[in-house]
Amino acid sequence: MANGIDRASPANWPYPSLVAHRCGGTLAPENTLAGFDACVRHGYRMVEFDAKLSADNELFLLHDDTLERTTNGYGAAAVHLWAQLAQLDAGAWYGPQFAGTRLPTLADAAARCARAGIAANIEIKPCPGREEITGRLVASGALKLWEGQTPPLVSSFSFDALAAARDAAPSLRRGMLFEEVPADWLRIVRELDCVSLHASHRYLTEPLVAEIRAAGLHVLAYTVNDPARARLLAQWGVDMICTDRIDKLQHDML
Ligand code: G3P
Ligand code: MG
Repeated sequence: MANGIDRASPANWPYPSLVAHRCGGTLAPENTLAGFDACVRHGYRMVEFDAKLSADNELFLLHDDTLERTTNGYGAAAVHLWAQLAQLDAGAWYGPQFAGTRLPTLADAAARCARAGIAANIEIKPCPGREEITGRLVASGALKLWEGQTPPLVSSFSFDALAAARDAAPSLRRGMLFEEVPADWLRIVRELDCVSLHASHRYLTEPLVAEIRAAGLHVLAYTVNDPARARLLAQWGVDMICTDRIDKLQHDML
């Protein structure tokens, strides 16, 4: 118990200790429904994915600001209408067996979570200049789309996106994302009323994890692909490990 908060209570933290990074880690094209299939096949009960807005404000899953790396499209994602984005191939870059895989909408992701009975960490990944609107629309959309399911954990590297998410859907649990945890982390998470702090595992230390937990927050570490490192982080008190290697990290090894 820290700050009077029972951190372990499922009412406060209804999530498992492992989450599949970008849906299926490196076992499927990232941020696609094929990734959800891989997640389920490997016994994972939670996915992390990146959500952003098309030019006409459709909520969909994509990591990069641009289309080239993970689709057969070109240029900035933010300037394309959803009707154009929906035509793109988001699987062929990964392997021919995934050719024809489409970019999922946030609604597709919510429906798949419901069908598979898995939880979600929605990372708000705004295209540059669209932080506030993306935070607002992702949070209000998620609140409706996940009705009746375990509420998603909403995170972002963008303070402005997370502030907009807080204002649009205060009841959704929020996690602040950092690469390296800055000195003023406590002020930031308090201002955003976060329940968790998410950081690159490379910068986490045992005393820092203890300090974050003592403030009553849960800790997520990304992207951890080595089982020994995952075990150590769990021993330090890290609550959730985000991994690409859903074939190597299993719940019973933590
Ligand atoms: O949420 C953890 C992780 O997804 C953050 O990094 O770049 O993979 O979205 P990135
Ligand atoms: Mg992410």
